[in-house]
Amino acid sequence: MLDSADKAVNQGVAPVTYGQGERPPRGDYASARADYTGEQRWSDYTPQEHDLYRRLYERQASQLPGLACDEFIEAVEHLGHPAQIPRFDELSEKLHRATTWEVVAVPGLIPEEAFFALLAQRKFPVTRWLRTPEEFDYIVEPDVFHDLFGHVPLLFNPVFADYMQAYGAGGLKASRLDACELLARLYWYTVEFGLIATPQGVRAYGAGVLSSAGELQHSVRSPEPSRVHFDLQRIMRTRYKIDSYQATYFVIDSFDQLFAATAPDFTPIYRAVREQPEIEAGAVLPGEPLVGVDCAGA
Ligand code: PHE
Ligand code: CO
Repeated sequence: MLDSADKAVNQGVAPVTYGQGERPPRGDYASARADYTGEQRWSDYTPQEHDLYRRLYERQASQLPGLACDEFIEAVEHLGHPAQIPRFDELSEKLHRATTWEVVAVPGLIPEEAFFALLAQRKFPVTRWLRTPEEFDYIVEPDVFHDLFGHVPLLFNPVFADYMQAYGAGGLKASRLDACELLARLYWYTVEFGLIATPQGVRAYGAGVLSSAGELQHSVRSPEPSRVHFDLQRIMRTRYKIDSYQATYFVIDSFDQLFAATAPDFTPIYRAVREQPEIEAGAVLPGEPLVGVDCAGA
């Protein structure tokens, strides 16, 4: 059997992913290094790809006011002029100056252990390829637009940047404790689909919502989903959907709250969570207070 260190090493082929799709996994794993990083090969992007990136960027940027948190809106400027797919090396230089993070190119989805190891080194893996024009509205796998537009702006925020590194280190530990599924729920409901309460109302900070044409509006404004106050064990117990808008979002009060709540050793927390029943996506527990969309913490 492979131990977890071996599993983190690129063997030149795409990792096995859950679920099935029409499309084979994209990405050139053969030319990536052992840690799955490789060259962005910026000059290989076509004018049509730069133009598709610009259209994705402009559609998303126009939706941010009133829906994205201020920290994201301020930081999205760092991605530079949207006329072209950013050069990862230039972006890394800026990011390194701000929070000592950098972005590294990867062929696509990579195994959990490899992903955690990069985050723990303050390296954010960004898929090098862009979706096809047919995927303008919806894409199953993360591409360069999701990874850059969704994830990179908040890496300029010092508290969120530290949270991401702590998550990586925590992931390596969770692999040893066989707790990756529980920890993945935390990533999903914070880094990908997190909401934050502000004096102006609920806003988005999760990359999955911020890079989605339809879900950004839905997550912040729709009366359909349940919006639950951030609670670590509640999140680890909650299943999630990968092929539709989320039925539950979790709302933090601040990035400081998120960082502090996830700082303790998770070893006893994983044990406590395993003793409790799982919660279906969208379910609300008896007596559980929900967050209203218009006012912070209501
Ligand atoms: N405190 C967690 C642990 O001990 C590590 C962690 C921090 C995980 C932040 C996620 C986010 O495993
Ligand atoms: Co993502």
